Amino acid sequence: MCGIVGYIGDGNAKDIIIDGLKRLEYRGYDSAGIAVHKDGNLVVRKHIGRISNLEDMIQGENLDSPVGIGHTRWATHGAPSDINAHPHSSRDGRIAVVHNGIIENYVKLKQWLRENHNIEFKSETDTEVIAQLIGVFYDGDLLDAVYKAVDMMEGAYAIGVIAADEPDKIVAVRRDAPLIVGLGNNCNFIASDIPALLKHVRKIYLIENNETVVITKNSAKILNEERKEVKRDVFNVTWDADAAEKEGYDHFMLKEIHEQPKGIYETLMRRLDENDSIKLDGITLTKEELDKINKIYIVACGTAYHAGLVGKYAIEKFAKIPVEVDVASEFRYRDPFVDENTLFIAVSQSGETLDTLAALREAKSKGARILSVVNVVGSSVARESDDVFYTWAGPEIAVASTKAYTTQLICMYLIALYMAVLKGSITEDYYKFVMDELKALPEKLEELLKKEKDIEEIAKSQYKRECVFFIGRGSDVGVSYEGSLKLKEISYINSFAIAAGELKHGTIALIEQGTLVIALATQDKLYDKMLSNIQEVKARGAYVIGLAKESNKEIEAQANDVIYIPDCADEVTPILAVVPLQILAYYIAKLRGCDIDKPKNLAKSVTVE
Ligand code: AGP
Repeated sequence: MCGIVGYIGDGNAKDIIIDGLKRLEYRGYDSAGIAVHKDGNLVVRKHIGRISNLEDMIQGENLDSPVGIGHTRWATHGAPSDINAHPHSSRDGRIAVVHNGIIENYVKLKQWLRENHNIEFKSETDTEVIAQLIGVFYDGDLLDAVYKAVDMMEGAYAIGVIAADEPDKIVAVRRDAPLIVGLGNNCNFIASDIPALLKHVRKIYLIENNETVVITKNSAKILNEERKEVKRDVFNVTWDADAAEKEGYDHFMLKEIHEQPKGIYETLMRRLDENDSIKLDGITLTKEELDKINKIYIVACGTAYHAGLVGKYAIEKFAKIPVEVDVASEFRYRDPFVDENTLFIAVSQSGETLDTLAALREAKSKGARILSVVNVVGSSVARESDDVFYTWAGPEIAVASTKAYTTQLICMYLIALYMAVLKGSITEDYYKFVMDELKALPEKLEELLKKEKDIEEIAKSQYKRECVFFIGRGSDVGVSYEGSLKLKEISYINSFAIAAGELKHGTIALIEQGTLVIALATQDKLYDKMLSNIQEVKARGAYVIGLAKESNKEIEAQANDVIYIPDCADEVTPILAVVPLQILAYYIAKLRGCDIDKPKNLAKSVTVE
């Protein structure tokens, strides 16, 4: 999604902003731009494509300035182009704006500006409407002009604004899109995400929805919805700057695949006391409250949705409560049955996915209790939930989610076991059995990661495929969906996941000589069934890569290749089974020369509908 960086202080805004924008490249973008205050005016420079194109454009030009704003754009209204790139300016060029999100009533506002102020628009964007609105309202008080403009705007946005006649400040507004303030010495920042500021500051303000900020080089004022100044605790960022670097791996994705044992350990062990009882920080769900819950929804998008599919399996198996899993973009439009006896579990790595946020708000408006599983502290989903259960995966930079997914699974298991204990739906022995299995995962995962090179060898024989099928049964179905998405989104190979038992109901017509089928057979109780499904597709010429536990060797007689995962209980195989699929997708994409960390058309956080 779009990235925003603003700076005001004793340093050189241009260099600091450009560097900050580079730290946001992972969010996905198609153009970049900067506006700085120079000799009483605003100078705007912007270019389609990578930030390096913008740097080439301003090479040699003296744009040194103490104040400026910058932007990386992911197109929503108006195709990627120089003119549609941000910042956008008012008619007289005295106001410049950067914006993340969508102004839903921009067409109406454009009409109003044309009819009442004869504004001629240069771009196709909704953002230019913001700049023109502020421009027509500006009469020497930037904050007042921004308020007047915002009062007319509908939609989800974060904006940063500078004025040629007020070079001592930056004004920013947050509504539904992320915004933070960085607090420095004789300088302050605005940004849409923490990595943009890590190099300069560690103290930040998390800006709440419908708040406005006015920053100068020595002050940062936060104004609430009633436009009254509010105090805000300083949030100290503990991430190392390196955490956002690749640490020697070729791609963030591979680094993050290898960070999974640590992420799983952190996410699990921080919630267990000395007796392995679960202490769910951030969750205040009591037995009485749980007993009143007669419906659980898990709602999310993409990989987070796939984590929900495994969450359903865990909650139904351990807590014996029926769970419905839905993609957020469908949930909010199907008039779902929700009331005060509903528990709505939102799963979101970024905590800023608008579809998920909107579904959460829909459920909240109908009285549901909101529990969210989120990786980004202080994100919108987290802040709008009754209970938040953080995954401790650390910053996930690659667009393709890996460590966030496996830590989401850990959270699902912990929530399921927590509920099971409250309800008394499992014995103490079984609780201990499952908990011991979960605690053994980080070490087993380290073991599994040693097979990386073996999996790379398999990728070498498969990377030219144009179509791949993933099949599985039981909890392997959700993992098949996730393995298929990983392959699709970074290698651009058309891949497809289906419950193995469903093959004979139509899809098997597509299996022909040489078709690649990846068959997940990690569930002991469904293993024989899966061997039959493998025979089914082999009989039609398929090339099968099997996935099974170390001790289940029969699969070797059926499959062409086998990737083994360490032995473990059926209950916890999803957390191990997905990792070979992540690695396989990674190496296939690498062999195909794809842009693994920033796949085409994708963004790390989809903050538009
Ligand atoms: C995952 O690999 C994809 N990049 C995408 O499906 C992602 O999971 C989805 O957009 C949801 O994002 P969130 O977890 O930040 O809400």
